[in-house]
Amino acid sequence: MRDLDARDIAVVLKRAKEMKQHKHAKLFEGKILGSMFFEPSTRTRLSFESAMERLGGKVITAAEAGVTSSAKGETLADSIRVISRYCDIIAMRHPMEGAARLAADMTDIPIVNGGDGANQHPTQTLLDLFTIQETQKRLTGLSVAMVGDLKYGRTIHSLAQGLALFKARIYFVAPPSLQMPKELLTELQKKGVKYTMHEKLDPVVPKVDILYDTRIQKERFVDELEYEKVKNIYQITPETLSRAKKTMRLMHPLPRVTEIHPSVDATPHAYYFQQAENGVYVRQALIALTLGLLQP
Ligand code: NCD
Repeated sequence: MRDLDARDIAVVLKRAKEMKQHKHAKLFEGKILGSMFFEPSTRTRLSFESAMERLGGKVITAAEAGVTSSAKGETLADSIRVISRYCDIIAMRHPMEGAARLAADMTDIPIVNGGDGANQHPTQTLLDLFTIQETQKRLTGLSVAMVGDLKYGRTIHSLAQGLALFKARIYFVAPPSLQMPKELLTELQKKGVKYTMHEKLDPVVPKVDILYDTRIQKERFVDELEYEKVKNIYQITPETLSRAKKTMRLMHPLPRVTEIHPSVDATPHAYYFQQAENGVYVRQALIALTLGLLQP
């Protein structure tokens, strides 16, 4: 996220809107996306691939680390050096923090970070900002609650940095053991972002324009017992949302486990499936801009 300023983001969102209006058919003809996902992914990988194919591009994939040469001991650096000769742009996800940055240093083609460990998930943030703007008709000066696993949730880390560029008022709602990492809070403070920390969700609900819920990141816990203690800490039901503003939208990067009850889907607040669809348009915009197919 630190690579982008408010203007860059505005450009991506503007182009994403054009993508949603289907203004750029066949834009990716003759282009190949390398899809390298070394960690489980449904939405991120498939929406990158769909983004490419829907505009006439092609995809080569090294989806499961086990079936590529990394299982034979090849370094990430070597894999990137080779695969970058087979395609025009790479989208990657890796369990190691900083993996995408390292990959970007190994090649001249664009590397897009689809999630690096618990660190960052910037394309998710771009689609989140697009969705926030779509539902609230503006991006500046909104009140946003971030709920759930703020410690390990990479979508949260990137979104907090993204919202910092748009004068957001942020409510961090989590059990103390899963609150926001200190370095990120310091960064927000330096940028003058107004935020508060909360353990209880109910008092925060009526205050916000966006409630951004997240899954407790089971796979990042060192201690299974610690996970058991917090796994069901917030379970959003229609009752939880009864005091929300009419225009409040509930977002979630998905997958959800138990944190949003299925009966919430039918409320006017639920917006997570539309949010997931927006991933295709935002990734199309990002690919077009990084490949120089559209001008900023
Ligand atoms: C998120 C991720 O992978 O960080 N999922 C996604 O990309 N939509 C959130 C999660 O796994 O909980």
